[in-house]
Amino acid sequence: MAKMGTSSRVAAAIVVVLGFVLSLAVVCNGGKTSSFVRKVEKTVDMPLDSDVFKVPPGYNAPQQVHITQGDQLGKAVIVSWVTVEEPGSNTVLYWSAYSKKQKSEGKFTTYKFYNYTSGYIHHTTIRNLKFNTKYYYVVGIGHTERQFWFITPPEVGPDVPYTFGLIGDLGQSFDSNKTLTHYELNPQKGQAVLFVGDLCYADTHPNHDNVWWDTWGRFTERSVAYQPWIWTVGNHEIDFAPELGETKPFKPYTHRYHVPYKASGSTAPFWYSIKRASAYIIVLSSYSAYGKYTPQYFWLEQELRKVNRSETPWLIVLMHAPWYNSYNFHYLEGETMRVMYEPWFVKYKVDVVFAGHVHAYERSERMSNVAYNIVNGICIPVKDQSAPVYITIGDGGNTEVLATK
Ligand SMILES: [Fe+2]
Repeated sequence: MAKMGTSSRVAAAIVVVLGFVLSLAVVCNGGKTSSFVRKVEKTVDMPLDSDVFKVPPGYNAPQQVHITQGDQLGKAVIVSWVTVEEPGSNTVLYWSAYSKKQKSEGKFTTYKFYNYTSGYIHHTTIRNLKFNTKYYYVVGIGHTERQFWFITPPEVGPDVPYTFGLIGDLGQSFDSNKTLTHYELNPQKGQAVLFVGDLCYADTHPNHDNVWWDTWGRFTERSVAYQPWIWTVGNHEIDFAPELGETKPFKPYTHRYHVPYKASGSTAPFWYSIKRASAYIIVLSSYSAYGKYTPQYFWLEQELRKVNRSETPWLIVLMHAPWYNSYNFHYLEGETMRVMYEPWFVKYKVDVVFAGHVHAYERSERMSNVAYNIVNGICIPVKDQSAPVYITIGDGGNTEVLATK
């Protein structure tokens, strides 16, 4: 790998401030990132009776409450939660200081995975929200009610500053808890999280014990019930286990985490886009077909054409497996997707690509490797001001060891 600026084991949760000065060249004031360095020693999962996994008290109390953006512009929010004793209400009650109480109805789903049966997983979308407004919401109507709040993003536009947090490969170890705490305590105050895949690592437990999906939902609620996390799938969401009779990829993930993929014309929840403030965010799936003529390929080809940089000057792509990786961990796993899509990223001047998967922090210069054809032999990354910066942030805290070589 040519000239990659590398520094391993830096803070696992980064906060990026996007600041915009009219439509001139973009200025990014990233501020100071944390000086925290994770220890190299392998961490372990927090025990099932940990505080952070506690079930909320009360009959049929909603648990694992989480929100994400519910449309392309940020005027809708998908609210999700799980009830255990009975389905209970699908209603979300919500209001702001300027509006009366309103209700929105959703649906619930359940699934089985080998010998595990899920709780009742509710998803309710609330729409037509006002931009830049604090809303309170209540779930669990009729039994144990729980109240949370969120703030909608400002209206999409070129001069709108916004602060995203970045987390990848979180898991639910003691180090995962440190990562989430660092994010919460970061003085830059992230307003939404770009999550680059690998959520709970349930698949690292015998029979992919889906109880660990539930604990992860309770562990992360303290952040994701109050601000949207924008989801990307990683390899630990595939849960493909033919030895257990489980052959439908992404089954637990797709039941639990909904995303607004239809709003961007996508046909599957693994690739989609949203606009938020001054950023256009494209989410890709490293683990769905991406070759020529595939649904993801067709979608991305159309999608990149839609981006209007005078409306959203920042063009950000999220994926799980990085295209550029100088560690021996997962080396070249992102290479085939890079070969397919990198010329488009240069053509459309993607600003930054965030990935996880490799358990380290790594940041590239703007560079590309798109000159190669079968006869010219030119296959080396070169500096390219039209190319993205690539940032890997897969050191979120899971129990697999850090990449150090
Ligand atoms: Fe991964």
